Amino acid sequence: MTDQTKPVLAPGAGPFERHVFVCMSGGVCPSQGAEQVHAAMKDLAKQTCGPVAVRVNKSGCLGQCGHGPMVCVYPENVWYAGVKVEDVAEIVERHLVGGEPVERLLFRDHHAGPNVVKKG
Ligand code: FES
Repeated sequence: MTDQTKPVLAPGAGPFERHVFVCMSGGVCPSQGAEQVHAAMKDLAKQTCGPVAVRVNKSGCLGQCGHGPMVCVYPENVWYAGVKVEDVAEIVERHLVGGEPVERLLFRDHHAGPNVVKKG
């Protein structure tokens, strides 16, 4: 059923201003606290940004195992590594609301494609 009170978007237009993906089902991020990060991000983004501006989804493995929990934000294509629950408020307030990525949490020193840390 379509909500007749909302405008219809152009074909192909994304229905959200930003889309956040938290790696939740890969082999490593879930053991690093990704579930708690996802829950906190979803709650705070919904309270702060509303349901239209930001959507927070669980993702499968993002191919960066061992650097997580991994979080990525589109359309900016900004990737965060090692995100903890304590970091969520800063990402929501500074990036999702303010549009400024959180520099200290950016995924660094990686290559295009998968960057999986080999188990020693
Ligand atoms: S388990 Fe999260 S990137 Fe692979």
